[in-house]
Amino acid sequence: MIAAYSATSQARVNAALETLFNAPSPELVRLYEAMRYSVMNGGKRVRPLLAYAACEALGGKAEQANGAACAVELIHAYSLVHDDLPAMDDDDLRRGQPTTHKKFDEACAILAGDGLQSLAFSALLDPRLSSSDAEIRLKMVSALALAAGPAGMVGGQAIDLGSVGLKLDQKALETMHRHKTGALIEVSVKLGALASGRAEKDELKSLQAYAQAIGLAFQVQDDILDVESDTETLGKRQGADIARDKPTYPALLGLDAAKAYALELRDQALHALRPFDAAAEPLRDLARYIVDRRN
Ligand code: IPE
Ligand code: IPE
Ligand code: MG
Ligand code: MG
Ligand code: MG
Repeated sequence: MIAAYSATSQARVNAALETLFNAPSPELVRLYEAMRYSVMNGGKRVRPLLAYAACEALGGKAEQANGAACAVELIHAYSLVHDDLPAMDDDDLRRGQPTTHKKFDEACAILAGDGLQSLAFSALLDPRLSSSDAEIRLKMVSALALAAGPAGMVGGQAIDLGSVGLKLDQKALETMHRHKTGALIEVSVKLGALASGRAEKDELKSLQAYAQAIGLAFQVQDDILDVESDTETLGKRQGADIARDKPTYPALLGLDAAKAYALELRDQALHALRPFDAAAEPLRDLARYIVDRRN
């Protein structure tokens, strides 16, 4: 079920994303190529899937969330391009291919990331992709700005880089993970819900509780896979956190306790969805997938 849902949703978001990388003039071809390379290179598309599934859980049509799905994937892709730079995690491999700064060069990768960030907001405002209701579009833009910025993902990356070699306690580690990864996952669900045009306060609250739990679970599982997966399956270098002495859940709690914690977060997420009917089944499947995934 999740495999079929993923394939359909990935094809949908990829078709929408594909329209965004046509260079408007010849001197910009390389920059647009670098942006396209950074986005259209595989990737599980978990954040777009969450946007579509949240929209459908509220009775919307998945297509209504195309702008939201593109926007969260564009922010995610930009965050990865910058995360892999020598000044940050210094990684050469991403999604099984050379990282953007290896394929192009560092300046080009920085600019491609900057460009992808702007494109994300344009996608949310694009009438072909997004809601026709201006109030909804405004809510979506302000939610994404908050989640992607210094109070969200960027703040989390700053905490991450400032914590290398330090021993964080569980509370500090959780704060870091909730910012660097949780914020964007949480807003993926919120934007999808808003795109449905049917989001009521109570439903948004339940969806937020769901999204906070899977957002943290996602990064706990990412940390676990760094320990126990392999480079080929991951498409990025296994053991990179250990090599760089990054604070992670397995490093803090041990592998078994980290796994148990991921399952506990999954159950919290499923619990939060109790008020929803069968239309929320894709969201439930995604919660299970996030802790079962092998890459
Ligand atoms: C990797 O994200 C970076 C984290 C936030 C943990 P994903 O595991 O979603 O990466 P892709 O998009 O599938 O490559
Ligand atoms: C990345 O976290 C989070 C963001 C890019 C915001 P990681 O550094 O753990 O991601 P990977 O493991 O390189 O994919
Ligand atoms: Mg990192
Ligand atoms: Mg990294
Ligand atoms: Mg990681």
